[in-house]
Amino acid sequence: MMKAMYPGSFDPITLGHLDIIKRAASMLDQLYVVVMINPLKKYFFSIEERKKLIRESLEGINNVIVDDHEGLLVDYAKKNKINVVVRGLRAVTDFEYELQMANANRKLYDKLETVFFMTDEKYSFLSSSLVKEVAMLGGDISYWVPKPVLNAFKEKLRR
Ligand code: PNS
Repeated sequence: MMKAMYPGSFDPITLGHLDIIKRAASMLDQLYVVVMINPLKKYFFSIEERKKLIRESLEGINNVIVDDHEGLLVDYAKKNKINVVVRGLRAVTDFEYELQMANANRKLYDKLETVFFMTDEKYSFLSSSLVKEVAMLGGDISYWVPKPVLNAFKEKLRR
């Protein structure tokens, strides 16, 4: 059985992430979308909110498991017998960071391979931070995020 994990902060999930999830899931038996928890980082959405927003955005993709993990990525991979990590590459600016992570992870667990999906060009400038900034300043983010995320921002920013 071919399975892989797609780790990230997903604060929140964007249409860029969703595009990678769809394309990766279609090639695999099972894709684990794993919300990684860094205790030192401040998030806009809670871990449960981020997982819920991913689940609600999946609509019809059945071979995806949404989970969270605190600690090393490689420990999650080992525990769940996963040997492939999926990441998206938007532009060359992502490359150095991704290369560093991929190499560090392979050093920590030599059976772990990272594969990259080239982000669809229409999402090449998109990031969760950009979405949060625009949303908080009252801009329209409907082109960039799935419906559940749009509603979650409306709800959170109303208060
Ligand atoms: O969505 P992001 O913020 O680009 O995702 C980065 C993430 C969560 C994949 C990365 O920070 C990570 O893997 N964190 C888990 C801790 C870990 O294993 N660190 C060593 C990897 S080099």
